[in-house]
Amino acid sequence: ITVDWDIKQAERGGYAHFMLKEIMEQPDVWGDCLLGRIHEDQVVPKEIGLTPELLTRVKRIQIVAAGTAYHAGLIGKSLIERLARVPVNVDVASEFRYAHPILDKDTMVIAISQSGETADTLACLRMAREQGVFTYSITNTVGSTVARESDAVAYTLAGPEIAVASTKAYTTQILVLTLLALALAQVHGNPRPDLVRRMLQLPLLGHKVLDRMNQGIESMAQRLAKTHDVFYIGRGLDYALAMEGQLKIKEISYLHAEAYAAGELKHGTLALIEEGTPVVAIVTEREVADKTVSNILEVKARGAEVWGIVDDWLPSTLPIDHRIAVPIEEPLLAPVLAAIPLQLLAYYTAVARGHDVDQPRNLAKSVTVE
Ligand code: G6P
Repeated sequence: ITVDWDIKQAERGGYAHFMLKEIMEQPDVWGDCLLGRIHEDQVVPKEIGLTPELLTRVKRIQIVAAGTAYHAGLIGKSLIERLARVPVNVDVASEFRYAHPILDKDTMVIAISQSGETADTLACLRMAREQGVFTYSITNTVGSTVARESDAVAYTLAGPEIAVASTKAYTTQILVLTLLALALAQVHGNPRPDLVRRMLQLPLLGHKVLDRMNQGIESMAQRLAKTHDVFYIGRGLDYALAMEGQLKIKEISYLHAEAYAAGELKHGTLALIEEGTPVVAIVTEREVADKTVSNILEVKARGAEVWGIVDDWLPSTLPIDHRIAVPIEEPLLAPVLAAIPLQLLAYYTAVARGHDVDQPRNLAKSVTVE
């Protein structure tokens, strides 16, 4: 007998695309990322490249990043501000470097970059260092330029990411940012041992999400594949997730997609909603869930078809056409779990549209040009 195989297929470990492999690997990769970084319900600062003294000195944080890493930064801002009450700015690196930014010695500049080679992100890092500001990088690539040129570094330990559309690098960036938020909270006298403990359950919950997603997400994507414009809405962390969701679908499906803060719809975008307009609504933020639900009702009333990525805890009677329920348990840790259905929805939509998922047109994995 002969067996048809090629090197690429073997590297994909039986999956049709690297992207799918990388999505499916996430729970295990999260375990690798957290390994050794938590001890007795506390984050161990030195395992994320910092010391309690350095953490105490930080009065402000400036995050710079591009693409998906920027979206991870937005999640990081919300978590750091909520847990540690340290103010955080997040900017797209290509804007920040030309914006005449105000930096001072109490600020820590964080560069987030999967590759560690993105030209704009690197330029921001260099600018900060020239001004004598402490720089910290969160990267997936050991020995990368960003890692080498930072004062301190935390690796995401996601393993090689081959697909152009970032998945496991994104969720591990969020995990490192969550660890950082909790470490800052510790030194600022607001430790959250409950959350630290819960982080260790994320790999298990991730597997649970993946098991569930096999049921139906592919057919939901087939429906989405036939549309032209998609709106993603959410509030708080869910808005940051919506931004990543819309980027994912644009990158590989070439569908036009936009993310909106759910509460902003009424200031213009609602005019675009008509019979059959697809809306992906993300509802994991319990504090504002009722507000987002009322935004879902608004778009439903205008004929939208809604894909809801929602906390298990929300009643199944909600007027959502395609319900994707995620076992959230702790809203502050929801982003990595809710990211999975967003990634799968984008993946299966691209597959249904017959695109080259791993190598989308016009895009590169690492952007070293300006
Ligand atoms: C490119 C990639 C994106 C990535 C961005 C930033 O545009 O296609 O997936 O998010 O660069 O890359 P970095 O390596 O800095 O995270």
